[in-house]
Amino acid sequence: MAQINPSILSADFARLADEAEAVGGADWLHVDVMDNHFVPNLTLGVPIVESLSRATDTPLDCHLMIEDPDRWAPQYVEAGAGSVTFHVEAAAAPVRLAREIRAKGARASMALKPATPVEPFEDLLPELDMLLIMTVEPGFGGQAFLDIMLPKIRRTRELISKHGLDLWLQVDGGVSEATIERCAEAGADVFVAGSAVYGAADPAAAVAALRARADAATAGAAWACGH
Ligand code: DX5
Ligand code: ZN
Repeated sequence: MAQINPSILSADFARLADEAEAVGGADWLHVDVMDNHFVPNLTLGVPIVESLSRATDTPLDCHLMIEDPDRWAPQYVEAGAGSVTFHVEAAAAPVRLAREIRAKGARASMALKPATPVEPFEDLLPELDMLLIMTVEPGFGGQAFLDIMLPKIRRTRELISKHGLDLWLQVDGGVSEATIERCAEAGADVFVAGSAVYGAADPAAAVAALRARADAATAGAAWACGH
């Protein structure tokens, strides 16, 4: 079954606990950490993740768009994140970092910007619990979905099948009711949606609608069986 992770980047930052509650049916809450260096935008850090993890039962999926994740990522596990994603473009030692995140008790995930190919990392995939393929240039919510990423999603799904891995494939950026089916057909199984959820009149209904579309699109896919 598809997992839907609303991105709180599009939520009201002054009411985060309520905004988490508003998407109670979500699988994870996606928390975008931006440092104004790796991306040209600034959001939040460890103290807010710590507070949010105490304020909600929904597990936190922290997406670190920051420089030097080797130094900072472990602190997000300690702050209560259930999954921590670092960008491979920023990591000095991605294997060591993924192992450290897992050793501290969270799921380890690695993100690729649109211009970063997946093929050089084929041998590294068993070190990960999730791979995030960005479907916009990271930094802002509300951008248009990049269709040119669909072949990369498809090739990644083939690599996962080829090696028989239990690796989740997440997409993030421009995911909406208009684009989620394309992502799901290409092989994604975890979907981040910011503006499509928090921009909707009923965020919980938006989560359910996204999930229904993704599940319908993958009903026949062999790789989706057992999910
Ligand atoms: C973008 C962030 C996304 C963002 C997605 O850099 O990583 O998580 O919140 O927002 P939408 O779904 O509006 O494209
Ligand atoms: Zn994100």
